[in-house]
Amino acid sequence: MSGTHSDVLILGGGSGGYACAFRASQLGFSVTLIEEDKVGGTCLHRGCIPTKALLHTAEVADIARTSETFGVQAKFEGIDIDAMHDYKNGTVERLYKGLQGLVAQHKITTVVGHGIVVGDRTVEVDGVRYTATSVVLATGSYARTIPGIELGDRIVTSDQALNLGFVPKKAIVLGGGVIGVEFASVWASFGADVTVIEALPRLVAAEDPWCSKHLERAFRKRGVTSRTSVKVASAKESNEGVVVELESGDTLDADVLLVAVGRGPRTADSGFAEHGITLDRGFVVTDERLRTSVDGVYAVGDIVGGLQLAHRGFQQGIFVAEEIAGLHPVPVADHLIPRVTYSHPEIASVGFGEDAARDRYGDITSVVYDLSGNGKSQILKTAGGIKVVRAGGEGADGPVVGVHMVGDRVGELIGEAQLAVAWEALPSDIAHFVHAHPTQNEALGEAMLALAGAPLHAHS
Ligand code: NAI
Repeated sequence: MSGTHSDVLILGGGSGGYACAFRASQLGFSVTLIEEDKVGGTCLHRGCIPTKALLHTAEVADIARTSETFGVQAKFEGIDIDAMHDYKNGTVERLYKGLQGLVAQHKITTVVGHGIVVGDRTVEVDGVRYTATSVVLATGSYARTIPGIELGDRIVTSDQALNLGFVPKKAIVLGGGVIGVEFASVWASFGADVTVIEALPRLVAAEDPWCSKHLERAFRKRGVTSRTSVKVASAKESNEGVVVELESGDTLDADVLLVAVGRGPRTADSGFAEHGITLDRGFVVTDERLRTSVDGVYAVGDIVGGLQLAHRGFQQGIFVAEEIAGLHPVPVADHLIPRVTYSHPEIASVGFGEDAARDRYGDITSVVYDLSGNGKSQILKTAGGIKVVRAGGEGADGPVVGVHMVGDRVGELIGEAQLAVAWEALPSDIAHFVHAHPTQNEALGEAMLALAGAPLHAHS
């Protein structure tokens, strides 16, 4: 059976897919969006939004636990799991309603079902064929697991961990990447005894090692155990809990094991490879303009190798719509994409770490401004720092090429950091801008002052 022909057909309604749909519609194209589950995808329903809601509950728990430090008489008496899920689900639901309203407003034709590429710019859903002038693949990613470790009620990925019906007393997190660290943080705030197992020598291994060091130290203070450079040999679940055996020979037990070892691209069951779309280890191969190996077919979001972040997907979706419209948009540069890990403390970074910057620019200079010298951070009682990396050796005035931050709320500082890196600002350009006092932004300003050779509040 033949369905509609559209200018742009998008397979997958997550961050990348719906952003592309909205922009394409704004540009005057007829748009069909195929989604088998809910518009909003992983980010809205199983990722960014619900996890950050849990992290906010965790922050409230920490505030309650430490309230007396701030002169408030309150007590942390535990987590009301049903109320917590109501709050989280309510947040998702409100955003979902808003998103559905926007889909309707943009006059996007939505098709519910599993789409399969069956021919040249042709996608079939439940026996109905939809054709288009341009096709955008945006099928997203799934939580990877480890062969030999069977998922169950207590061995879970982030999908199930979000809806866990109990607060674990003891939790093991397999994988010290972003998801692992965020859940470790949540469960530690809820009072659990948490161990993170990471195969690499440090947590958040994609970040500058300085960030890992600060995070590991902060986790240690919070009672979170980090076991790095070690792999899991086996994991078994019983009614009472899980038993995890490490390759080192140690055995650990807990109420729950979270498997957070990365996300794989969802490209296996939609006819991509069968219709000439080149894949590399499951990821769709694209050029800089997000064109796949098949003419008129583009790919965006987590199925394209690189940072798997919702905001990258959004931007790539917008890019492709504008590319199809012939607007010659600027390609999305991965190193300019801000990264935030919302643990307690947070990690936020943009641009290159010291090693990558040195590889690219040769001589570099970096400074660290410790949050102990920042008034607002002291008020909040958060430790950490801001590291700024600029190109050029001592005494030069090269552009800022990387900013790395650790501390509560530093995610909110990423905007200024991103502008500095993306605009290739010189520290001396920024140093004379006034930062409001007392804010954590001042710490970024101080780091720029130091790099420009005129630190105000630095201890020598
Ligand atoms: P990840 O790739 O960030 O981390 C996975 C970690 O698991 C790695 O450090 C890896 O070395 C480790 N690992 C793999 N196999 C292992 C084994 N057998 N034993 C021990 N350790 C092992 O992946 P993650 O944390 O699952 O996140 C998936 C994606 O979702 C990431 O790309 C992340 O950026 C994104 N995400 C982003 C968030 C944010 O921006 N705040 C929040 C959550 C996820």
